[in-house]
Amino acid sequence: MSWYAEQLVPRIVHLVCSTPGVARWRRRAVEWLSGRVVEIGFGSGLNVPLYPAAVERIDAVEPRDEAWRLARRAIEASPIPIERVGVDGQRLPLADGSYDGALSTFTLCTVEDATLAVRELYRVLKPGGALHFLEHGLSPDARVARWQWRLDPLERLVADGCHLTRDVRRLVERAGFEVSWCEQRYETGPKPWSYLTVGVATKPVD
Ligand SMILES: C[S@@+](CC[C@H](N)C(=O)[O-])C[C@H]1O[C@@H](n2cnc3c(N)ncnc32)[C@H](O)[C@@H]1O
Repeated sequence: MSWYAEQLVPRIVHLVCSTPGVARWRRRAVEWLSGRVVEIGFGSGLNVPLYPAAVERIDAVEPRDEAWRLARRAIEASPIPIERVGVDGQRLPLADGSYDGALSTFTLCTVEDATLAVRELYRVLKPGGALHFLEHGLSPDARVARWQWRLDPLERLVADGCHLTRDVRRLVERAGFEVSWCEQRYETGPKPWSYLTVGVATKPVD
């Protein structure tokens, strides 16, 4: 793993993703989480101060040690116990049906096989459990989407595997989740990067 990906990218992500505008979206993504929660791509812990009091414990999955180090202060300040339980959202070392909630913010764009990661979240959630998600992704506007496809290879190279062209709603629906709430629109900023989707998808009760 390169020094750039391990050391620099987590710091850049921390800066770029900690703006007040993004925090407003984050708040909406974490709202209504409760009980035992697994968060994949935990990063530098930018969601930690926003978790509601109904969350009893957060199990974090994060491959980058530098991101985990950056998260330390937020973790120490949190009244909710937080533990790093894994390093790869595509292979969770966690029991089936063991979580009330799951969270992914700006992570399904980066995980190499996002289909696998969403299937893993489906597996570890209890029936009735909810996946909360906030992601940037493929725009419905043909002109913007064309640019996203053009820029995608460069984005993957400079942003540690991040894709501009993923459709998170489709990803979660294809894994078997039922989307109970979803909002999509542009945030301020260049359009290829700023088409955001926030939502909640539930694992059906058999
Ligand atoms: C753009 S950052 C977002 C960080 C954080 N979720 C946030 O909202 O600020 C993407 C995160 O996904 C993590 N990541 C990359 N591959 C992953 C994988 N296979 N499993 C879990 N996390 C992964 C990266 O290390 C990084 O922390």
